[in-house]
Amino acid sequence: MDAREMKIAAAQAALAHVEDGMRLGIGTGSTAEEFVRLLAEKVAGGLSVEGVPTSERTARLCVELGVSLKSLDELPELDLTIDGADEVDPALRLIKGGGGALLREKIVAAASSKVIVIADETKMVDTLGAFPLPIEINSFGQASTRIAIERAAERLGLTGDLTLRGSHDGPFMTDGGHFIFDASFGRIPDAEALGHALHAIPGVVEHGLFINLATLAIIAGPQGARVVEK
Ligand code: A5P
Repeated sequence: MDAREMKIAAAQAALAHVEDGMRLGIGTGSTAEEFVRLLAEKVAGGLSVEGVPTSERTARLCVELGVSLKSLDELPELDLTIDGADEVDPALRLIKGGGGALLREKIVAAASSKVIVIADETKMVDTLGAFPLPIEINSFGQASTRIAIERAAERLGLTGDLTLRGSHDGPFMTDGGHFIFDASFGRIPDAEALGHALHAIPGVVEHGLFINLATLAIIAGPQGARVVEK
């Protein structure tokens, strides 16, 4: 199985958890997009679900493939969200936001009774942090927010570069109109403490540590998909 086939295997296994009539949070990223393609086939075959997308990118794909969408304000409580992740640890703590959709992803996950993470096995880690942590920030006062993040991290024994995501065209802007710092702290032994410390900084809109949100993970390797539970 190549990398894409593993993503499809995880997405296929997640589809078995989708029931007729469900209110469904729909994630962002290449793995979530495989799920949307499979879901659209089921919808074409008669499955009835209402989806809430976690990004404009996911919304466009759903519309293109005929998956019916609602806003989170129309469906404020969801039965199930299916989303990818950048890292998953054995306690189902996640790093998310590599695709820049972490804020909406977290709001949607928190509004869901169940959250299933789909990923290939390269995303499984013992300790979070090899993947740079996305931190969504307000563009106002970004230099001050950077210093506050660095100091908060240092108090927890973490150091590393904060890179403002973007290219020569300018900073990357999220669907909410914010910027993202990618923080290369390395291993994050106490993700809960870092999450609390980041939330206490006024310029931080949200961070990519997803703790106590995932219900189970479906992890695909060359031999197929397996379920990881806490
Ligand atoms: C989007 O903001 C992210 O949280 C994605 O869920 C994450 O980056 C996983 O993406 P891939 O499935 O493309 O690896």
